[in-house]
Amino acid sequence: MRERLTPIRSVEREDSLTATPEAPPCAMVIFGAAGDLTRRLVVPALYNLVVAKCLPEGFRLVGVDLAEKSVDDWRSGLTAAMDGFVKGGGGEFQPDKIDPGSWKWLTGRMSYLQGDLNDPGTFQRLGAHLDDLDKTAGTAGNHLFYLAVADRFFGTAVDGLGAANLVQEADGQWRRVVIEKPFGHDLASAKALNTRILKTLDESQIYRMDHFLGKETVQNIMALRFANGLFEPLWNRQHIDHVQITAAETVGVEGRGKFYERTGALRDMVPNHVFQLLAMTAMEPPLSFAADAVRSKKAEVIEAIRSLDRDTALRDAVRGQYGAGVVLGEAANAYRTERDVAPDSAAETYVAIKLAIDNWRWSGVPFYLRTGKYLARRTTEIAIRFHQAPYALFRSTDVERMNPNWMVLRIQPDEGVALEFAAKHPGPRVRLENVTMDFAYETFFKMAPNTGYETLIYDCMSGDASLFQRADNIEADWQAVQPILDAWAATPPGDFPNYAAGGTGPAAADDLLARDGHAWRPL
Ligand code: BG6
Repeated sequence: MRERLTPIRSVEREDSLTATPEAPPCAMVIFGAAGDLTRRLVVPALYNLVVAKCLPEGFRLVGVDLAEKSVDDWRSGLTAAMDGFVKGGGGEFQPDKIDPGSWKWLTGRMSYLQGDLNDPGTFQRLGAHLDDLDKTAGTAGNHLFYLAVADRFFGTAVDGLGAANLVQEADGQWRRVVIEKPFGHDLASAKALNTRILKTLDESQIYRMDHFLGKETVQNIMALRFANGLFEPLWNRQHIDHVQITAAETVGVEGRGKFYERTGALRDMVPNHVFQLLAMTAMEPPLSFAADAVRSKKAEVIEAIRSLDRDTALRDAVRGQYGAGVVLGEAANAYRTERDVAPDSAAETYVAIKLAIDNWRWSGVPFYLRTGKYLARRTTEIAIRFHQAPYALFRSTDVERMNPNWMVLRIQPDEGVALEFAAKHPGPRVRLENVTMDFAYETFFKMAPNTGYETLIYDCMSGDASLFQRADNIEADWQAVQPILDAWAATPPGDFPNYAAGGTGPAAADDLLARDGHAWRPL
């Protein structure tokens, strides 16, 4: 049974971006301008920032890519993509229409530079172009470099920027670099990349992106915990039995076989997105919202994850790979038959892990994490299970057992927060039924269609790094999963494929919780 409380107020609030002041003037340079990320997420996010009047007159967008294109080609390709999103193109961004004035405002500020990141000449020409913009377009000498390129180019791009003297800050003019995921492939490569880029950049100039932090519902975890007197006092081992974090997807690898073969679900989702959810849920309250205050608390809690040895890694981390099946009513092929995937591939498309956090707050509270492709339902949520109330009072009634209280933070879709508790079923007999108090974002807030990148890009321009990863956050994340990567690399999976596409994951993932007397919440 699921009941919705009548909203106390259901008003059309302002979209939060609309009330936001303009970002400072700057030239934003996108490396990988002809790529998928630029088209699907970065440019739609910039468009949304224009619509919300968050970008200043002195904003310019410079595309850099290997592809031979003129600025007109670049613009018209992007225009066609934006029009496609309106027609329900199935992307993250699904607007009702594109406002022609706003789009013209943005396209009128675009320029394009063809160039190879391995060629120092590319950076020389870029430098000259930026000088020109600073003099003629009011970009104020502020430059934001966005690396929307494959991760093997991150180091090259930063070296190139450094060698061409494009990242030195002087006279209040800032130079920032946004680095997308994946940041490293394991602990050693993440450390090496940090060392390499920190030779050129100061930590304060680096914005390591995790797009989950652009989600309102993820940012709301801090508000929920720290802006309410009700929840935080219960947020500890005295009251919480265990926590389940789920990031279930109904998509397969979507033609990204090559990437997935060397990545797998663990690297792709856990030390980044899932750990962001874990950190937001489990961190201690920071002293302020200052970037370093927040990031230090996140690093602390990830560092408190109990390290696994080879045996515990094999026992407490379960991997899965999908076989053929039916997803949302449509036939789906096995992972091993996807393009660019080996017929005997050992890449996992599903992972479930039990973790312990060795600190005062969480001692003895297991955190169960799971994520996978081609599962029965798309849902990302954090479910907190509270301790059971004592049964004693009910033993002489019809109540046979008590249900636990759950608080569920629905990150996506159907964004909201629900609290499940027992209520007396109306009637003369004592019977209990679980009911739900539900807060749904759509009931209370008017949210314009967005990609989640708007806030993140705006924050880079404004110099607020609290939603970005510091070097130590990234390294702590990899440190926590490294024993699992090592254990799996040394022990081939024997039973792949071990779940059907469209199912709920491998049986071993159910056993992982059953051993502790728990069960996953149904997908
Ligand atoms: C990406 C992963 O970082 O996040 C994808 O590479 C995954 O494999 C995606 O599908 C999930 O993000 P979201 O926002 O769609 O839940």
